[in-house]
Amino acid sequence: MTDGRAVEDLVVGVLGGTGPQGRGLAVRLAAAGQQILLGSRDAERASEVAVEVAGRATTAAGGTDVSVKGGSNVDVAGAADLVIVAVPYGGHAATLAGLAAPLAGKVVVDCVVPMGFDELGAYVLDVEEGSVAQQAAALLPDSSVVGAFHHLSAVLLEDLSRPTLDGDVMVVGDVREATDLVQALAGRLPGMRGVYAGRLRNARQVEALTINLVSVNRRYKAHAGIRVTDV
Ligand SMILES: NC(=O)c1ccc[n+]([C@@H]2O[C@H](COP(=O)([O-])OP(=O)(O)OC[C@H]3O[C@@H](n4cnc5c(N)ncnc54)[C@H](OP(=O)(O)O)[C@@H]3O)[C@@H](O)[C@H]2O)c1
Repeated sequence: MTDGRAVEDLVVGVLGGTGPQGRGLAVRLAAAGQQILLGSRDAERASEVAVEVAGRATTAAGGTDVSVKGGSNVDVAGAADLVIVAVPYGGHAATLAGLAAPLAGKVVVDCVVPMGFDELGAYVLDVEEGSVAQQAAALLPDSSVVGAFHHLSAVLLEDLSRPTLDGDVMVVGDVREATDLVQALAGRLPGMRGVYAGRLRNARQVEALTINLVSVNRRYKAHAGIRVTDV
């Protein structure tokens, strides 16, 4: 899977890395020293965003060199050791459908939330496979799919005036080595901790809890996260 390499030695790819969530994870991880590949449907856009993210990460890292490069989603999927999926739910299945081969043998981290909005606010969309993460697993039979990073606000991730974040990352998956790796990756975000939260069949609740947080945010004008106690 990663040939026993430590998490800090892995190249992390982000599909949909030009959006707020992908950029936010990328800038924080890059500032922590992770090598990052930002993916997009448009390689040129990815390269432009990568330059901007690298600049902010360098400043956050106190001038230390960082590594952020851009490319097409397919090239990033092929080149990265571990890949985070940060595209909208509406494009999730179509994005991953073409990536089974480049993602084979890799850990794929899905943070996609199946969320709709109507006049009553945010609500959970039904996913045929049970959850978005299970949809990814069905489309990527030779990858180890892990669900994580759903409960982090992109606004806070991108706000580097706050050097430290606050909260836990619930990590769900079926392969212990993969969930351990993603917990370690979550721990590279300043102030954050990865907490194992069950098998992939439990991804549905983790994804859906994000909708409760969105409701909290709308009521209290906040960017709420979660903290698991007594662990
Ligand atoms: N924003 C948050 O606070 C937050 C928090 C937790 C989880 N999430 C999840 O993280 C994911 C990304 O969130 P976001 O706010 O960054 O989303 P976004 O800005 O809507 O999308 C992210 C990127 O995905 C690409 N994209 C857009 N439509 C696509 C499609 N139909 N197919 C493939 N790629 C497409 C775009 O990049 P290119 O045009 O460059 O390809 C876009 O920049 C979502 O699934 C969301 O549920 C977000």
